[in-house]
Amino acid sequence: MTPFELSRQQFPRGFTIIGTGRLGSSLALRLHSKGYLIRSLYNRTLDSCERIAAQTDTDTYGTFPARPAELGDVVFLCLPDDQIEAFAKKMGPVKDGPAWVHTSGAAPADVLLPLAPDGRGIASMHPVQTFTIKNRETAFNQCFVTLQGDAVLCGQLKKVVEAIGARPLLVDSRQKTAIHLAAVYVCNYMAPLFAASQGLLRDNGLEIRARDLFGPMVRQAVEGLLSNPPAEVLTGPVMRGDTGTIDRHLNVLADSPEWIQLYRMLGRATLELAQTLETRDRFADDEMMKRFSATD
Ligand SMILES: NC(=O)c1ccc[n+]([C@@H]2O[C@H](COP(=O)([O-])OP(=O)(O)OC[C@H]3O[C@@H](n4cnc5c(N)ncnc54)[C@H](OP(=O)(O)O)[C@@H]3O)[C@@H](O)[C@H]2O)c1
Repeated sequence: MTPFELSRQQFPRGFTIIGTGRLGSSLALRLHSKGYLIRSLYNRTLDSCERIAAQTDTDTYGTFPARPAELGDVVFLCLPDDQIEAFAKKMGPVKDGPAWVHTSGAAPADVLLPLAPDGRGIASMHPVQTFTIKNRETAFNQCFVTLQGDAVLCGQLKKVVEAIGARPLLVDSRQKTAIHLAAVYVCNYMAPLFAASQGLLRDNGLEIRARDLFGPMVRQAVEGLLSNPPAEVLTGPVMRGDTGTIDRHLNVLADSPEWIQLYRMLGRATLELAQTLETRDRFADDEMMKRFSATD
């Protein structure tokens, strides 16, 4: 039996999605396109819900609240993070109810305990991907989806994840938080680095946008990072041991002190990473470390 056939059998009454925003609508469309039954759809406001219902052949849809008989075997709560626990508390324990699954990357499955105090039939299912209106058709392709919570339910959801073309990853609650945190480093923290880069250009009388000036180089760097271990793609003054260049940078930064701590902190991290390479010539490392560790 294929993962689809197995899970279709395990969840004969199909799925309910509560929250037809970016992720909820993508999930509904993807489940439907792979042949699953969308039993019902609910949202705070009717517009998006009505639209997705039409595209997924779903007759039962509306604004909250749902009647228990209208719920599928699994209810996906695709609500803003802060609303998930509030929803669960408001709903309270549901006897002989469906399985409840939220899609937040930050919260553990436990926030759903008010719905099932014994922990049975609750899970979190977090696609490690960014969903927008534009990438609905493709966003699930090969993306990892973490599953955490009731082991039996996670085993069943694993088949659903496979059937929609994504890659399941079973984790515990600490690992789930670690994944969320690790994603912050590689995704969110790029934004302040671009802001610092833009600020330095501006402070030095350059009107050009950082994303235009560095676009081709950044694309190349990201490509490198997606195909090699981080230490192996290092280039730049730290890698070469160019202490004089670092001094010139620090001179320019003297006029833009808001960016200096970031430069030093990341310089130290870069140096420590470079030092993991066995072939590295360490002749300038102490001098560079002195500069990155200065506190003035
Ligand atoms: N988007 C992503 O890239 C992504 C990726 C992975 C995981 N997730 C997770 O998926 C969940 C949903 O995220 P999303 O990006 O799909 O959010 P979103 O686009 O903002 O959608 C949230 C949906 O929840 C509804 N909603 C219900 N009660 C609400 C309330 N009290 N306040 C605000 N909205 C309320 C909204 O209704 P209205 O239509 O009335 O506003 C909207 O349809 C979150 O837990 C998020 O962490 C998202």
